[in-house]
Amino acid sequence: MRQLDLFYRRPSKNTRDAMCRAAMNLKHMPGGRYEEVTAAEKSIINTTGHDHVKIVNSGNSAILAVMSTFKGKILIPDQGGWTGFKKMAEFLGIETKEVSTELGVMDAAVLAESIKNNSPEALFITSFAGYTAEQPVREIYEVCEDLGVTLVEDASGSLGDETGKLASGKHAHVIVASTGAPKTVNVGSGGFISTNDEKILGNAKNILKTLKSDPVTCAGITEEIKNASNVLTKTLEACEFLKKELKKEFDLEKDLVKKDVKNDMKKDFSKNILHADKRGINIAVSTDNPKKTGYELRKSLKVQGGGIVTVCPRYERIMADAVCIEIKNLDVKCLGHENLNEIIQIIKKTVVPETV
Ligand SMILES: Cc1ncc(COP(=O)(O)O)c(C=O)c1O
Repeated sequence: MRQLDLFYRRPSKNTRDAMCRAAMNLKHMPGGRYEEVTAAEKSIINTTGHDHVKIVNSGNSAILAVMSTFKGKILIPDQGGWTGFKKMAEFLGIETKEVSTELGVMDAAVLAESIKNNSPEALFITSFAGYTAEQPVREIYEVCEDLGVTLVEDASGSLGDETGKLASGKHAHVIVASTGAPKTVNVGSGGFISTNDEKILGNAKNILKTLKSDPVTCAGITEEIKNASNVLTKTLEACEFLKKELKKEFDLEKDLVKKDVKNDMKKDFSKNILHADKRGINIAVSTDNPKKTGYELRKSLKVQGGGIVTVCPRYERIMADAVCIEIKNLDVKCLGHENLNEIIQIIKKTVVPETV
């Protein structure tokens, strides 16, 4: 078997250089108005299309600051959201209600019903349910807009979406994102809030004072955001290829199984690829024994500098017996077809038991 050559995503060389330069330039700025902060704000405005941006020290800080401006109930998906939605709401003493989803993906009619039943102030979602399947953000936004609910989209995994469907100020009242590792804009630290509603930032003014960004992270954001579209597109393409090829492989396997007359376990493994037809930046594979499958996959899918296997059920992925292979954590340079084909064989060998 060919040796896999996988390495964990790092900030680009240009980003690290820009951060070094900003660190060397550090000096006291009267009023704390650093040019690096202004430049990073502009680069985010160019990406999301919103009018106002506040850069903070992490994605969770962005969520905390935005949530602190709400007093009423908040809706979140029943799975595939971010754990920080629940934790920050708990910290602030805000009640959350979960919207039923199809393995994380929200249906506009179900959402409308939930809004009518709960009268929430806001809905928090991630652009991709569990990083696996694109949310119908535009439809969700239309329901929220019609029913007077603020839609907060956590776009940590979708910044720079070339289709304009995700991370777009056109259909999110507020966008929050983490720029920590290994997000689409991967600076190792930081996050931001972007919105057209200046009141939200005004109402969060005091808490934002405690969650400030620093010029070095901001210099990193300005540089790294230039790569966001390319990183996202390549990751989406790799996942699309993996899902399609895995389905094909599993279909073949199913035919072989069916021909075996002694075997009464006629299982359709192609259904194990969850959300196979949706855009996503990881691969979720259902399995009867996620811990064992996860252990086996971790042994075979060795990655320099980090890991790419998540065991489910898990709120921030999928509430089902499954494992996720986090392609989003890999440097796009290692997403060539040789590595992807090797990943397919490893997943197939691990998920389809030889005894079947
Ligand atoms: C979707 C999402 N939102 C927010 C966060 C939190 O970001 P941070 O670690 O910058 O607080 C994460 C972290 O993994 C995340 O995956």
